[in-house]
Amino acid sequence: MGRAPSRRYANTAELIAAEEPDNPSFLFSERLLVNAIDTFKSGFDGLLTYAVKANPSPHILEIMHREGLTAYDVASNTEMALINQYAPGATMHYNNPIKSRREIARAYEEFGVRSFTIDHVAQLDQLAAVIPPSEDVEVTVRFKAGKALKSYDFGTKFGVMEDGAISICTLTKAMGYSTSLCFHVGSQCEDAYAYERHIAAAGRIALASGIELGRLNVGGGFPATYPSSSAPPLDVYFDTIRTAVADTFGSTKPQLIAEPGRGLVTGSTSLLLRVKHQRGEQSVYLNDGVYGSLMEAMIVEFMPPLRVWRGDRILTGESWGFTIFGPTCDSYDMLPQSFILPESIAEDDYIEFGLMGAYTQASLTPFNGFDRRDLYWVDDILV
Ligand SMILES: Cc1ncc(COP(=O)(O)O)c(C=O)c1O
Repeated sequence: MGRAPSRRYANTAELIAAEEPDNPSFLFSERLLVNAIDTFKSGFDGLLTYAVKANPSPHILEIMHREGLTAYDVASNTEMALINQYAPGATMHYNNPIKSRREIARAYEEFGVRSFTIDHVAQLDQLAAVIPPSEDVEVTVRFKAGKALKSYDFGTKFGVMEDGAISICTLTKAMGYSTSLCFHVGSQCEDAYAYERHIAAAGRIALASGIELGRLNVGGGFPATYPSSSAPPLDVYFDTIRTAVADTFGSTKPQLIAEPGRGLVTGSTSLLLRVKHQRGEQSVYLNDGVYGSLMEAMIVEFMPPLRVWRGDRILTGESWGFTIFGPTCDSYDMLPQSFILPESIAEDDYIEFGLMGAYTQASLTPFNGFDRRDLYWVDDILV
């Protein structure tokens, strides 16, 4: 694999001793990514795909490809090009309902995409204006069936209610497209039964619209094991989905697709940030913040595990709540939650945040000229 470095470190201490990284650094464990892929491959009863948006880094895509993932959820033409480059020959599902006609045409003609998600009847007209109806083209209708008890909900932006889904499916079938269904229970979904409720709704939609449901995409949402998470283990999710599909569809089960992002990649990467400045007894200023690798902390409520390093030693001692700021000149660059850190934390120490593989490398910005983040391969990182 071209992306693998010549030097790998056994653990974070070894990396710090050798490199003393001064730039924000992602520490990537290939072993932990392969473990996560194996967990989904052995537990999920269907086609495992990967939501590229969670982390489109070349090393992640190359390993997904090498470990046998043959299909990917892509949100844009740019992600399609990435798949062509790093997972050649893979199938792509264009599951972002928001597209332009030009993007649809490129997906179809240049990237060979044959599966498109919509959640509004106007998008069916848009699609039909570019791609003539045919059984070879799958139109997947994204519906919603209530909010999960705990997740980062996408329902205000995406998904059509059950009645609307029935009308769109009826129309899609009449036009001659192959018709299927999908949903997304929300990211970091800590309510496994949200999948059950959506699968039951899929059964009702298929029945009422008269489609033969060949495929049902249960989306992403599978949770990471943040210390703040109350989610059951992934096995509970896989069992819940299996049972709900059997109860709903009996012997005419559709093929299932899952497209996890966070659940697949979070645990494979930790984030090592350095203290640039420490002020008073409650504020630390790091070398990256909400305009970079910590952007998601502003959007999704979660608390990653963390540890503080002074050189290659873990710093302990009396600890209390600190406010964490990023390095930019914007006062918005401040994490909303308080972090418990050793009171003696000082300039040049490091904070290692665990479980940072998803929605971190994907949303970096160069704001204020802070445009450099490094990547190291480290076997044993904080999880
Ligand atoms: C269509 C679609 N599929 C899958 C995902 C991945 O979700 P998660 O990272 O929660 O697994 C997303 C996330 O935005 C999405 O929009």
